[in-house]
Formats: sequence, structure tokens, C-alpha cells
Amino acid sequence: MKNWTAEERHYITATWDKLNVEEIGSESLARLLIVYPWTQKFFEDFGNLSTSSAILHNTRVHDHGKKVLNSFGSAVKNMDHIKESFAELSKLHCDRLHVDPENFKLQVPPSAASAKDPLLLTMGHGPAEEKQLITGLWGKVNVAECGGEALARLLIVYPWTQRFFSSFGNLSSPTAIVGNPKVREHGKKVLTSFGDAVKNLDNIKATYAKLSELHCDRLHVDPENFRLLGDILIIILAAHFGKEFTPACQATWQKLVGVVAHALGHQYH
Ligand code: HEM
Ligand code: HEM
Repeated sequence: MKNWTAEERHYITATWDKLNVEEIGSESLARLLIVYPWTQKFFEDFGNLSTSSAILHNTRVHDHGKKVLNSFGSAVKNMDHIKESFAELSKLHCDRLHVDPENFKLQVPPSAASAKDPLLLTMGHGPAEEKQLITGLWGKVNVAECGGEALARLLIVYPWTQRFFSSFGNLSSPTAIVGNPKVREHGKKVLTSFGDAVKNLDNIKATYAKLSELHCDRLHVDPENFRLLGDILIIILAAHFGKEFTPACQATWQKLVGVVAHALGHQYH
């Protein structure tokens, strides 16, 4: 059984109480199907899933998304017995639906990130549109602010990453991390370097060859951490840009952070 602190319980229930299950549920399932198109295979009888707009307007996606998030609510109400409350559903997804449990985590599988031409996307977006979705948003990103926030969140959400930054001073609490000038400075440096990927979309691997060597040979950073930072960046973009960070835009960015993580991890292979 997972132990929850009073603070964790508070964050979860307070957020849950404000959440519109119908709206967020249907948007979650729609984004799953758009950002990770291979998940569509489980929903073939749902009708038209051919474009992001078709998915967003599909009433069955809407209804099922609501159902899934409602069921997620039983985890919130039974935080001390989550395994038991999902026993039946686990059986259904495993034995009857054969859903690969990887789908319950939200990550770009390495096969997608390492595709030969990673910037050719499904969902009817050509490379030109993808580049537009990336550079259009990037032009509006405040690199210092978002970079600092990204590194701070990495260190708070995944505290084991702190061990790489023991020379950065006080990282003892979320407030200390957010207020730490070295975290902010380094976050800005990292996101500025991420901008090199945006400027070299066709040549990302070569762009990060030296940095990959540094992170691998000298810093010994486990490449899984590049994926974690990529996901954090997506969350920050979603929080900063709101509705403008559409599912199609997310799909493209998700792919970019996957390709960057793969390029940075290249020296490890
Ligand atoms: C937080 C994770 C998830 C929860 C809480 C959840 C919950 C549910 C619930 C409550 C149902 C309805 C069961 C019933 O009608 O008796 C369902 C059905 C289903 N789920 Fe999930 N689910 C989750 C993730 C997924 C994922 C990731 C996939 C596939 C990528 C998936 C595929 C399906 C399918 C195909 C059905 C049957 C749909 C139908 O034809 O009605 N689920 N799920
Ligand atoms: C998108 C992913 C990342 C990019 C683009 C990136 C980029 C950079 C850059 C540009 C530097 C400075 C290199 C120099 O000074 O020559 C750096 C240093 C460093 N990076 Fe990363 N990085 C990424 C992810 C990570 C992650 C996930 C970790 C660990 C969890 C990490 C740990 C470090 C450390 C420890 C340093 C040296 C810091 C210092 O002492 O100055 N990096 N990185």
C-alpha cells in the first residue's frame, strides 16, 4: 500500500474537487488518441478518429473519456486502497481488452523517438505544419522563466535528480528550490540549449553530439532523466499557453522532446 502524507492528500483532493470531470475526461482521452496515435487501435469501433478535429468532436470519445475520469475518481476517494478498487478494471484491461500497461504511463516509446525521419508525423500534419507548430510557439516562450521553472519542477517532482546538482546549494524544500538562483540560471542554460533543437530540427542528433558525450561520460546522467525533463517541459508549456497549446501542438512538441531525449542519450547506446 502506498503511504500518502497529509499534504499529498490535500493536493490531490483539492485539485480533484475543482476539476470538471466531463471536460477534462473527454480532453484527456482525445489528447491520448492524438498525441499517441497507436492507442487508437483500442477504439476502432468509436467511429471517425481520422484527424485531431474529428477526435475532439467524436461523442463516443467524449462519453468514454468522462467514464474513464469518473473511474479515476474512485482512486481519489479510496487513496488507501487503490489496488483493490481497480482490481476488476485491471482484469478487464488485461484479460479482455489486452491493453499494454505502457499505455497507462504517458511516455514516448523509444521506437517513436528514434524513427528514421522523426519529424514526419501522423494525424495529417506534414513536416511544414509541424515545424510551424514548434517554431510558432517557441518564439513566444520566455526561456529564462520557463527554463528555471522546468529545472525546479524536475528537482521537486523527481527528487532523485537532485543528486546531480549537489553543488547548487539549498535544495531542501520546494520553496528553496524555486528560489535558488543557481537552479534558475542552469534551467535557463538548459532551455536555451533546447532552442538549438528548434533551430536545427533536421539535424538534432548532430546538434547534441557533444552534450550527449558530456552528460554520459562526464556527468553520468541516466538518459531516463532526459525524458522526465521533456515531460515537465510539456506541462510547463501547457500551463503557460493554455488553450493555445492544442492537442496537435502537444503532439508535435511531445515528439520533439522525445527526439531531443533520444539525441542526448545517443552516446549511451
Ligand atoms: C487511468 C487509466 C484508465 C482508467 C481509470 C480506465 C477506466 C475504464 C473504464 C471505467 C472503462 C469502462 C469499463 C466498463 O464499461 O465496464 C474502460 C473501458 C475501456 N478502456 Fe480503459 N481506463 C484507463 C486507461 C485505458 C487506456 C490507456 C486504454 C487504451 C489505450 C484503455 C482502453 C479501454 C477500452 C478499449 C475500453 C472499452 C471501451 C468500450 O468499447 O466501451 N483504457 N476503461
Ligand atoms: C533537454 C535536456 C537537457 C539539455 C538540453 C541539457 C543541456 C545542458 C547544458 C547546455 C549544460 C551546460 C554544459 C556546459 O556548461 O558546457 C548542461 C549541464 C549539466 N546538465 Fe544538462 N541538459 C539536459 C538535461 C539534463 C538532465 C535531465 C540532468 C540531470 C537530471 C542534467 C544534468 C546536468 C548537469 C549535472 C550539468 C552540469 C551542471 C554544472 O555543474 O554546471 N541535464 N546540460
